[in-house]
Amino acid sequence: MKTIRAFAPATIANINVGFDVLGLALNELGDTVELIDNHSDKNKIIEIKNGANLPFEVDENCCSVVIKKMQEALNNFKGVDIKIVKGFAAGSGLGSSSASSAAAAFAYNSYLGKPFKSEELIAFAAEGERVACGAAHTDNVAPALLGGIVLSKGKNPKDYIKLPVLEGLYVVTLFPNIKVKTSDSRKLLKETIPMTTVSRQVALMGAFVVSLYQNDFDLFSASLHDLIVEPMRKLLIPKFDELKQTALDNKALAFGISGSGPSVFAFARDEATAISIKNALEKVYENTGIITESYINKLSEKSGAKII
Ligand code: HSE
Repeated sequence: MKTIRAFAPATIANINVGFDVLGLALNELGDTVELIDNHSDKNKIIEIKNGANLPFEVDENCCSVVIKKMQEALNNFKGVDIKIVKGFAAGSGLGSSSASSAAAAFAYNSYLGKPFKSEELIAFAAEGERVACGAAHTDNVAPALLGGIVLSKGKNPKDYIKLPVLEGLYVVTLFPNIKVKTSDSRKLLKETIPMTTVSRQVALMGAFVVSLYQNDFDLFSASLHDLIVEPMRKLLIPKFDELKQTALDNKALAFGISGSGPSVFAFARDEATAISIKNALEKVYENTGIITESYINKLSEKSGAKII
C-alpha cells in the first residue's frame, strides 16, 4: 500500500517588523501528516492525534482542503486517507494550522512525484490557513515549507525570499495556555495607522533585513521593535509587559508576540542565554494558574518541511 509521511515545523509569524509578511521556522517542534493511497477519488481524514477539537470533515480540515486544491490544480484526483499527528497546541500562535497545511502539501507533492516546486506549494498551504483562520496569509506556511526566515513579498512563487539566519541564533518560545483565536486576534487590529508610525516601522524592517545579511547582532536587536501590532494585541496576553522586561533583563536580543499570540518569543545570542530567558519567563507565570509550555530552538536555514 503506497504511503508517505511528512513533517513541517512550528513557526513564528510577523517577527515584530513584518506583519503578515515575515516568518521563521522552528525545528523539532511540528506536525506530521501521513497519506495512504485509498484507491478512490475521495480524501478521508482517518486519524487526528493530539488535536481534540480539529474537524474530520474534509471541507473543514486544513490538510484535506490543501490536498483538494492540489488535486484541482492538477485535475488529478488520487484519493488518500490522511493521518495527522499534532506536535503542539492549536491556537498557540506558533503556526499550528500552518504546520499541518505545509506537511499535507509537502506530503501530497512527494506522493505524486513532485509536480510542484516547494515555492509553488505555499499557495496551496495558504488555503489551509484560509479555512483554519479566515485569511490566506503566507507568513507561517512559507517558512514551514522552505525553512529558515522567509519574507513573503507577494503571492507568486518567486515572491518568497529566504533571508539568512544569524549564526548561532537561538529563540525561546513560551506558550501560556490561554485561548486566543487567530480570527479574534485579527479583528483587534485597527484599519488605519499614522503615517509617521508606518514610516518608522518600514525603517526598522529595512534595518532588520540588513542585520541578517551583515550578521550584525546589535543591529538585529535594535531593529526588532513592533510599533504597530504589539500595542493592540498585547492586551490579550496576561503580564505581557512583565514578560518583555524579564526577557530583556535576561539579555534577550528582542522580544515579541508570536503570530497572533498568545505565545511570545525572545531571541538569544547563545544557548546559555536562551536557557536563562526561558527559566525567567516561566517564573513570571508561577502561581497565576496559567500553565505554560516553553521551548528553545537553534535557528537553521534547513528547518523546513521534510519526508520522514
Ligand atoms: N500574521 C498572522 C497574524 C499570523 O498575525 O494574524 C497568524 O498566525
